[in-house]
Formats: sequence, structure tokens, C-alpha cells
Amino acid sequence: VTIRPARADDLTAMQACNLQNLPENYTMRYYLYHAMTWPSLSYVAEDSKGRIVGYVLAKMEEDLAPGDEPHGHLTSISVLRSYRRLGLAKRLMLQSQDAMASIYKASYVSLHVRKSNRAALSLYQDSLGFSVQDIEKKYYADGEDAYAMRLSLK
Ligand code: ACO
Repeated sequence: VTIRPARADDLTAMQACNLQNLPENYTMRYYLYHAMTWPSLSYVAEDSKGRIVGYVLAKMEEDLAPGDEPHGHLTSISVLRSYRRLGLAKRLMLQSQDAMASIYKASYVSLHVRKSNRAALSLYQDSLGFSVQDIEKKYYADGEDAYAMRLSLK
């Protein structure tokens, strides 16, 4: 499985992967916006047959609060079930984080995750070193709370 930057012609497959894996779905317009605006922040995992088996969709935060530093935001990540626990999500995240820091001088990366999402929490906290910054009550459409997490890129 290869990790490479996402291209415009990957977006449909990324969206399909997202639909299979997560209840948080996005319009094609939103995928395109990420890919066109920050072409080096989103990546795909591609198997030997050219099938997209995972993706990370990421951006730079556009609405900075006064005094806030430029930072990246992880919009969505998922890996197809049969390709999990192979280190793909970690590789996708590291590629995106590296580009945030080197190209956009991001001082940190932020994300939201469901409180009940043990696999993702373990990926972020134990594997990548994120910490919980805040709890956002009823962040998700079904009423679940989110952890707002951050990782310093400095
Ligand atoms: N249980 C416990 N720890 C886990 C699990 C799990 N099921 N999955 C990953 N981890 C942790 C482990 O520490 C793992 O290291 P190890 O395998 O050496 O123990 C580390 O994360 C790295 O795991 P990867 O193999 O890189 O993760 P994977 O490629 O399997 O993808 C992901 C993890 C993306 C969370 C996957 O389970 C998935 O697609 N889940 C459904 C979609 C989802 O929840 N996405 C995140 C939503 S939040 C957001 O998008 C901002």
C-alpha cells in the first residue's frame, strides 16, 4: 500500500471511503475545496490495484481567533476495515502534519473526535501524541460530545 498526495481524480473514491466508514459526510464541493486550496495536505492510501483504501482530508484553519497562530485542521480520516491496524492512518497523518509544518508553518494541528471513538482516540493520543484541549458538548449531529484535540508541530 502506497501513501501519496490526493489528486482531483481521487476525490470520488475518498468520498466513497468516507461514506463507508463514518457518519460525518461531506459534499464533493468540500472535498474539492480542500484539494484545490491545500493540495499538499490531503493524502490517499492506494493498494497495488490502484484502489483507494484510506484517506486523510486536511486543511489550514481559515478563521483564526485574535492571537491564534496559523494551524492545520484534520477534517477527516478513515481506512477501510480490511486495511486497518497496518499503520496506514498513522502514515497518512504524519504526511499531512509534515506538510502543514513545512509548507504552511503551522504551529499545531487540531481535530475533533467522538468521545466514544476508541480506535481514533488511541491513534491520536497514544500513537501521535495529541492531547485533549476541550470538550465540545453535542458537537455531532446525533448529540454526541467531541474531544477537541491538538498536537504541537513545533
Ligand atoms: N484499537 C486500539 N488502538 C488502535 C485501534 C483500535 N481499533 N486502531 C488504531 N489504534 C492505535 C494503535 O495505537 C495503533 O498502533 P498499533 O497498531 O501499533 O497498536 C495506532 O493507532 C496506529 O494505527 P493505524 O494502523 O495507523 O490505524 P488504522 O490505519 O487502522 O486507522 C482509524 C485508524 C482511522 C481510526 C480506523 O480505525 C478507521 O478508519 N476508523 C473509522 C473511521 C474513524 O473513526 N475515523 C476517525 C474519525 S475522527 C476524524 O476524522 C478527525
